[in-house]
Amino acid sequence: MSKVDMETDSSLEVCCNETTNSSSSSKEHLIPPDSKEPSSSRSSSASAGTMTSASQSSRIKYLSLGVLVVQTTSLVLTMRYSRTLPEDGPRYLSSSAVVCAEGLKILVCCLLVLKEHNFSLRGFQQLLKEEIVHKPLDTLKLAVPAGIYTLQNNLLYVALSNLDAATYQVTYQLKILTTALFTVSMLGRRLGLYQWLSLVILMAGVALVQWPTDSPAEKLSAGSQFVGVLAVLIACVSSGFAGVYFEKILKHTKQSVWLRNIQLGVFSFVFGLFGMILYDGARLVDDGMFQGFNTITYTVIFLQAVGGLVVAAVIKYADNILKGFAGSLSILASTVISFFWLGDFVPTSFFLVGALLVIAATFLYSLERKPAPSPVKV
Ligand code: C5P
Repeated sequence: MSKVDMETDSSLEVCCNETTNSSSSSKEHLIPPDSKEPSSSRSSSASAGTMTSASQSSRIKYLSLGVLVVQTTSLVLTMRYSRTLPEDGPRYLSSSAVVCAEGLKILVCCLLVLKEHNFSLRGFQQLLKEEIVHKPLDTLKLAVPAGIYTLQNNLLYVALSNLDAATYQVTYQLKILTTALFTVSMLGRRLGLYQWLSLVILMAGVALVQWPTDSPAEKLSAGSQFVGVLAVLIACVSSGFAGVYFEKILKHTKQSVWLRNIQLGVFSFVFGLFGMILYDGARLVDDGMFQGFNTITYTVIFLQAVGGLVVAAVIKYADNILKGFAGSLSILASTVISFFWLGDFVPTSFFLVGALLVIAATFLYSLERKPAPSPVKV
């Protein structure tokens, strides 16, 4: 095994044995290699540093999960609205919105990487050359999740064009199960009893929250429902696989998550462009890439880009399964918004019990903090 491999393995062990799932890179910087401190004071400052780092990671973890709940709720409602709003001219192309969101993500990630290098353009160029151009194989690994995410991002528009927001959100929660299965099989991480239990409680809670009531619901045609549900089911598998694959890449390398996201974004942008030309080529020729764009479209693009960045942060500081729970909390949030703001929802006792179960499951999952690691290499 090469030195680099051994270093990577040991950093992975550290990362997997942490009480939180914070990245190894945050720990690596606690003690500078050339530190002149005596070992005793170094070890006490290291443990103080570890605690600071752990509490910082924990803060970022819950902050990013909170932002994800807000982002998911607003994206689902805005995207559904944008796909059903009656339009005078042509409706915007979802394939074009996906490409624009990827472009925006790349831009923001470049700024974040630049910030990590004190806005030194030379350092940034050097880094891109060393990490992207000179490591073509590592870069190519990102093409896999990029392709899958591009498909998934397009499928979600198909889903929300054919399903109402509530049905979409609940069905998409199945991604928690696919993610758990990929986490166990690909990362070799064992889930504790409480974590499995919390997954079961979560599914029960989500089912209860969405238990059908007598309120007049939007009627969907059977064909449209089938297309929508199929799109969500494929997206569930893709979300689980791509998320865990990205987590695996992230936790096996020392590079910043934003650099990895530039690599991911560039592939996604290119795949998205191909997809757009392939499926919407004729319409592109007629009315251009930005046909039908309006404020709502820009909002959807902005929310989708923010979502990608927050998802990346959650994968780094929390984990993929916990990311799924943010979706459940978002279901509750959108229902509460419907009740208090839109005034078109009265919670049933099913809803209240389901809501309690979802919240309890979220806490139960994060209670068990020591996953048994069994590291595997990408
Ligand atoms: O629903 P799910 O959590 O799988 O959504 C993942 C979303 O986050 C996709 O839109 C994907 O493009 C984006 N993403 C990202 N950067 C990552 C991981 C995911 O932009 N590192």
